[in-house]
Amino acid sequence: MRIPYGGVAFFDSGIGGITVFAECRKRIKDEIFYYYGDNVHAPYGNRSAEEIYSYVDAAFARFRRLRVKGVVLACNTATAVCVERLRAKYDFPIIGTEPAVLPAAKLGGEVLVLATKATTQSERFQGLCRLATLRYPNARLSIVACPDLAGAIENNILTGRHDFSQYLPAASPNAIVLGCTHYIYIKDVVARHYNCPVFDGNEGIAKRLAFTLRQAKKDDFSINGRDGQPLVTTARPPQNCFLGSEKKRNLLVFEHMFAK
Ligand code: DGL
Repeated sequence: MRIPYGGVAFFDSGIGGITVFAECRKRIKDEIFYYYGDNVHAPYGNRSAEEIYSYVDAAFARFRRLRVKGVVLACNTATAVCVERLRAKYDFPIIGTEPAVLPAAKLGGEVLVLATKATTQSERFQGLCRLATLRYPNARLSIVACPDLAGAIENNILTGRHDFSQYLPAASPNAIVLGCTHYIYIKDVVARHYNCPVFDGNEGIAKRLAFTLRQAKKDDFSINGRDGQPLVTTARPPQNCFLGSEKKRNLLVFEHMFAK
């Protein structure tokens, strides 16, 4: 059975992953992208791991129905909480998002990592911090969960009037890691507030996606599913194959909105 090629889906709890989407679009022009923001349930950061998994899993089931070529989980929180579970369940490649702790720690000194509560409490994130400390003993990490910041950005970023610096912890770091894709919208505010380099993982994700797509191309655009059938082929993309939503408030950004 030939299954039509269905592009790449981006997922986040809300608008945060659009920053990832935009970085990937800058580098990858010849690919169909879908964006799904679950802003009915955003923010995710104060929810339980099980709750987060159930929302992400529901979106991924739709991606599977769309026969996507791969998914960018453009959400640190969902990656931290459930990327392994999703990878075990779904056949398509899943590119996760991880706080750029390693490149920041490489500089040494005080590194302040800002992330959601669910991310900071996850084993995956804590393992990453342990690795960074082992690899770069000159770095001192402080981890701060910002329970209200992603929600404030989700609700206020478009007004242009909100004071986001009120959510930032008092500190004098040598580097900051933005461990949530929502925070990237206020990268300039953060840089001004702390006057130090600010790291995010978007460029790394875009490179990884480009690499994954190149590999798929080399392998004749086919990535085998569990049953040995090609999951992705060079067939033309299906028409009208944009994500719909039963919940009308879910944010859907369609490819044509980004077409140059
Ligand atoms: N943008 C997400 C992240 O990268 C989720 C933030 C939230 O929904 O709390 O963690």
